[in-house]
Amino acid sequence: MKVALGVTGCIAAYKAVEVMRGLQKAGVQVEVVLTRAGARFVPPLTFESLTGRNVVTDMFQTGRNLDIHHIALAQSIQMLVVAPATANIIGKFAHGIADDFLSTLYLATPAPVLLAPAMNSAMWRHPAVRANVEALRRRGCKVVAPEAGMLACGMEGDGRLAPVETIVARVLAALRAGPAGAAADKGAGDLAGLSVLVTAGPTVEDIDPIRFISNRSSGKMGYAVAAAAARRGAQVCLVSGPTALDAPDGVERIDVRSAAEMLDAVLSRYDAADVVVKAAAVADYRPSAPAGQKIKKAGGVRALELERTEDILALLGNRKKRQFLVGFAAETENVLASAREKLRGKNLDLVVANDVSRGVFGEDAAAVHILAPDGAEVALEAQPKAAVADRLLDEVLIRRGRRGEAPE
Ligand code: CTP
Repeated sequence: MKVALGVTGCIAAYKAVEVMRGLQKAGVQVEVVLTRAGARFVPPLTFESLTGRNVVTDMFQTGRNLDIHHIALAQSIQMLVVAPATANIIGKFAHGIADDFLSTLYLATPAPVLLAPAMNSAMWRHPAVRANVEALRRRGCKVVAPEAGMLACGMEGDGRLAPVETIVARVLAALRAGPAGAAADKGAGDLAGLSVLVTAGPTVEDIDPIRFISNRSSGKMGYAVAAAAARRGAQVCLVSGPTALDAPDGVERIDVRSAAEMLDAVLSRYDAADVVVKAAAVADYRPSAPAGQKIKKAGGVRALELERTEDILALLGNRKKRQFLVGFAAETENVLASAREKLRGKNLDLVVANDVSRGVFGEDAAAVHILAPDGAEVALEAQPKAAVADRLLDEVLIRRGRRGEAPE
């Protein structure tokens, strides 16, 4: 297996050395391509010493026929990885600009491409960068979303290069999927071929024809997951309680109202699903005898008798076969411990812990922890729910891969 590792000019460039080592340890041959700015952060000698090979830094390096070399390299690699990928190289790839070796290699290679962006959070969120990333994703590039954290510029925010282990795992998973997987993937996104079932929004439990019990869920998190999964090539079914949101492009939406309706809709799609993300805030209780007619106040003080709804997620956990099951835990105290309890108790593959004491309902951003059964924990600082959704799906892909099933 041979991979070209593009290293572009940003402070995270030193981490490319660890990416390269991680790939080498797994038996992958790595050809490093440094951009001019990348070489200012990490000298070519560092990579040359570790690979025992020349590092490409210039399209027109004397002594080597490099204008041919980029074609030869383009044909011989199984994957082009760019880590870190700056806003500049992302822009060049998106627009087909070929003014150095790396951007020329991108245009010339039939191999799948994986980008691990790293930049200041204002740059990462800029509409120009977002549009370029979207364009590349639509074209089939895999993107390992950056994380939130302390940035080199001293600011806190998203834009920090994803962990080296995450990048290496994604590359290895894609290589394991082989040329067939990669070919099917190209132009379709890294979730191509997967059926993803998402639930979102609140449920509504009727008291009488006019009143009901519900909760503050806006549905934004679940809709963001459905939108991201569809954009990345999955076939997506979104089972949604009542929300004010439009169905994302390319998503089949089933509208439901009560927990019982959500249960029916989810069960009807469960067998066909590869990945299930249960972001809905399902009512735990419903009135045991909803009134057929409007309840009049004349009867004086009343107590409302409630009964438990079915715990849909627990049922799915019980019946799980090949499905990868993701639950959400909205908590106001002991957030991580309660989430871990749900992870275990409901037989989940991941749980997203959400501290709702700080009022995330209806917000466009969320700070969450993604917890896995092996004790791993990914902390995502406050960031747009769209970014949380992408990071969650990255984690799903990596962990499905580790479970020994076709990862991508
Ligand atoms: N869930 C579900 N069906 C229910 C209740 C919850 O599928 N009847 C799912 C939600 O979609 C979410 C997760 O379970 O993914 C949330 O866990 P849940 O058990 O609802 O938490 P709480 O109800 O808050 O449980 P507890 O009161 O024990 O904290």
